Amino acid sequence: MHLASYLALDLQFDISIFWRDVTRRPFIILGMVALVLLFPLAVTSNRISMRGLKRNWKRLHRLVYVAAVLAGIHFFLSFKTLNSTTAFYLTVMGLVLLTRVPALVSAGRRVFTHSGARRS
Ligand code: HEM
Repeated sequence: MHLASYLALDLQFDISIFWRDVTRRPFIILGMVALVLLFPLAVTSNRISMRGLKRNWKRLHRLVYVAAVLAGIHFFLSFKTLNSTTAFYLTVMGLVLLTRVPALVSAGRRVFTHSGARRS
C-alpha cells in the first residue's frame, strides 16, 4: 500500500520523477531493498514452505532483522531529523529488536558449535 500510494499519489505514475526522486532522496533505495527482502519472507510464510525448507526456513526468515533495520533507517532519513516522532518509533523498534538478541546469540552459538570450529 505504501509503495502504491507513493507511485500513484506522489509520482502520479511518472517514472521520470521516480529517477529524479531516487537520486535526490536516496533513502528511497533503502525502502526498496527492505521491500525486496520482505518479499521472499511473505512468499514462504506458510506451512508448506516451512516443511520444505526445514532449517533453512529459519535462516531465511532472519532476513527480517536486516529488513527492519533498513526500514528504520529509511524511516529516519525520510524525516531527516531526530524529533519526538522519529525518536519514539526508533526507540520502540530498538526495544523490540533487543528482545530478540538472546535468541539470536544462542542460535549463533549453536551454529558455531555444530560447525566443528570449537572441536579442533
Ligand atoms: C519500494 C519501496 C519503498 C518506497 C519507494 C518508499 C518510499 C517512501 C517515501 C517517498 C517516503 C517519504 C514520504 C514523505 O515524503 O512524506 C517514505 C517514508 C516512509 N517509509 Fe517508505 N518506501 C518504501 C518501502 C518501505 C518499507 C519496506 C517500509 C517498512 C517496512 C517503509 C516505511 C516507511 C515509513 C515508516 C516512512 C515514514 C512515514 C511516512 O511518511 O509514511 N517504506 N517511504
